[in-house]
Amino acid sequence: SSTDQVMVHFINQDGEKLTAIAKEGETLLEVVVNQNLAIDGFGACEGTLACSTCHLIFERDIFQKLDAISDEEMDMLDLAYGLTETSRLGCQVCIKKSMDGLTVQVPTEVSDVRRQLEVGKQS
Ligand code: FES
Repeated sequence: SSTDQVMVHFINQDGEKLTAIAKEGETLLEVVVNQNLAIDGFGACEGTLACSTCHLIFERDIFQKLDAISDEEMDMLDLAYGLTETSRLGCQVCIKKSMDGLTVQVPTEVSDVRRQLEVGKQS
């Protein structure tokens, strides 16, 4: 039914607003992948908490209502570029009805932690 549909907007790296109809319970990563939204390099580790490319910046009022952050997410988020006070990882945040109309911002700089680790290994 249409009642479990939640409209979410993403502002991508180019400043374009991408709008998606999401379902309750989907993660923001799943929304991007399932709807093929044009966000470069997003979700490189497919939600396994290994990359931080799903870093999203939330509006403060919505951010405060999100479920508590896990230690694992916190550790990975710490490695993301352009971290803000309202940053979370999109693969760890599930859509709720109360998020209808949500706008999240993709940081202009994304870092794939796995790539940093590889670079570290080589040097
Ligand atoms: Fe890699 Fe979220 S998709 S940490």
